[in-house]
Amino acid sequence: MNSTVQRLLAPYKGILAADESTKTIEKRLMAYGLQSTEEIKQAYRKMLFTTPDIEKYISGIILYKDSLDFIPLLNQKGITAGIKVDEGLESFNGTEEEVTKGLEGLSARLDKYINLGVRFTKWRAVIKISNIYPSDTFLEENLGRMSKYAKMVQEKEITPIVEPEVLLDGNHTTARCEETMTKTLKKLFELLIKENVDLDNLLLKSSMVLPGKDSGVEALPLEVANATLRTFRNSVPNKLRGIVFLSGGQTSDQAINNLNEIVKLNIGNKFGPWDISFSYSRALQNDALAIWIGKIENVTNAQEVFGKRLQMVSKARMGEL
Ligand code: G3H
Repeated sequence: MNSTVQRLLAPYKGILAADESTKTIEKRLMAYGLQSTEEIKQAYRKMLFTTPDIEKYISGIILYKDSLDFIPLLNQKGITAGIKVDEGLESFNGTEEEVTKGLEGLSARLDKYINLGVRFTKWRAVIKISNIYPSDTFLEENLGRMSKYAKMVQEKEITPIVEPEVLLDGNHTTARCEETMTKTLKKLFELLIKENVDLDNLLLKSSMVLPGKDSGVEALPLEVANATLRTFRNSVPNKLRGIVFLSGGQTSDQAINNLNEIVKLNIGNKFGPWDISFSYSRALQNDALAIWIGKIENVTNAQEVFGKRLQMVSKARMGEL
């Protein structure tokens, strides 16, 4: 197995997504009345990354381009540094669908990041569910770009994560989510294989199969686990080594309990041989941010709460919660 993939998938460990874009981090901080200045963003991320024992639970951290200064600290702790390299979304053919941009200039950006010590990258695509979306032309274009990104990253001898995020927004059923995710993932792997992407040196970052957040339905962890693993069995090649989840707007408890159930249900590789772990942002950070709220005197308490979340997700990643 590729050594970065192996390191990221270490038992009891997973990935912390701390790659909130300028706009996203601003939204998160503003919710607590905090201005998104460089100083506050750095202080927030420092609080997270210096949490005692973080390296026991976190194998890799995905950074945003404004946080590259943290790479030496992560390396000191034996945490692998990654970076989000897509450049957000742009409208697709004047429709409501949005494709991910960022291929232009990517090669030079990768060279710079690799020099600074980055060993893996992330590219996120957003897939909305409605009665008419996602369209076939949109999937072809968006996942085609994602596949080209993955190939380019592998050519630089580091590890790409592909993240086709199927959004929780909407009132769709679990069945409609399963259908959309199956179609999306089948198309993605078809295009990755066409680009000659090495599945041994790749991680899939996936949503879980869930009913839309406006559907008024809350699926039980076992239902989520069955539908999600069935989706993977029907669309993800066995050659892929690992799948890590995003939390996607689930509460911290939902994201952790659902992960635990998925891992448990796949014991003995019943649905497929992939190693299953996490790459959460909000599900790990939310309660720590709510306690920290920009105050130095709250750092210890916030780190304690963050540390507890890490302990829980680490157990869930092994199906031991
Ligand atoms: O792109 C999304 C992040 O990497 C994961 O964030 O866990 O808050 O959905 P989330």
